[in-house]
Amino acid sequence: MNLLISIVAILILTLLALGIALSQNMAYLLTVILPYVAFAAFLAGFVYRVIKWGASPVPFRIPTTCGQGKSLPWIQTNPLENPSGCWGVIGRMAQEIFLFRSLFRNTDVAIIEGRPVYGSAKWLWFFGILFHWSFLIIVLRHLRFFIEPIASWIGVLSALDGFFEIGIPTLYLSDATLLAGLTFLFLRRVVVPQVRYISLFTDYFSLLLIAGVISTGLLLRHFFPTDLNAVKTLALGWITFSPVIPHKVSAFFYIHLCFVFTLLAWFPLSKLMHAGGIFLSPTRNMTNNSRRQRHINPWNAPVKVHTYEEYEDEFRDKMKASGLPVEKE
Ligand code: HEM
Repeated sequence: MNLLISIVAILILTLLALGIALSQNMAYLLTVILPYVAFAAFLAGFVYRVIKWGASPVPFRIPTTCGQGKSLPWIQTNPLENPSGCWGVIGRMAQEIFLFRSLFRNTDVAIIEGRPVYGSAKWLWFFGILFHWSFLIIVLRHLRFFIEPIASWIGVLSALDGFFEIGIPTLYLSDATLLAGLTFLFLRRVVVPQVRYISLFTDYFSLLLIAGVISTGLLLRHFFPTDLNAVKTLALGWITFSPVIPHKVSAFFYIHLCFVFTLLAWFPLSKLMHAGGIFLSPTRNMTNNSRRQRHINPWNAPVKVHTYEEYEDEFRDKMKASGLPVEKE
């Protein structure tokens, strides 16, 4: 049902985008107003959620540890898997953000001859990392529309990405790997019963929205080319706050933009916010220094304690009478 609703939502969005693309009257809305509205929604939503997470109290040390913590000098420690200082945390976060370290540890369980048997499960890690790195490369390549003159590293990145020179125009490797990653992530949700069971509208919708952006981008590059100079003039107009409605661009460019703007506005409302949330994850970003430092919950309600001394003072006679040892006579 969730999948069906998200497919319908994407179809409605596509029809709306088509309507906007075909009607010249809406060009002003799409190229002059919506870019700013979508970007403002993205920025405001992103900042709001990060501030809200940042303001949540985390009174205890709750890092997940999977290596020996720092203790006595002669015991070998694992500073990355169980960081006790700032550099360890930075290293751990870098591994997590750039290499998806914890996903690499993913395990799978199967019941074999009545017993649970655990094994490594790397497919999600592999396609996940393929998807995210490809997405980043594509976004970085798109900066050529927003920077004049185009920075040399963007040229190098594009050249490397199109290294195999397959087809005209060249098929970018990142486009193929992004498609592969996205297809895996989508099929995993649809085919694996356990994952399908926990999948919500937001999961399918985000994936399908990204699929919309990619497929229209690919169509635009390989089948319905547009005037890239007009696109660049438009993009430079956006960042200098003087956008001009382009006249010679293909309808697919407008559809591409509709999907991109929806993705921007949808981003902070959805689980895609894990891009910002990862930095605020206390199980990853805290040092494990509990052996060195006592952490007391500052929000603890005052508790009336009854120490052993007080207890013994209260019951000393009775304790002695029944033959129990006492500390003070
Ligand atoms: C989330 C943001 C975006 C994503 C993920 C995305 C994705 C893609 C992809 C996968 C392609 C296929 C070719 C390639 O990889 O270069 C593409 C092409 C294209 N995109 Fe985007 N896009 C995004 C934003 C934009 C924006 C904001 C613009 C407007 C400046 C734009 C304009 C274009 C154009 C003109 C092409 C055709 C390029 C060519 O013919 O070489 N895209 N896009």
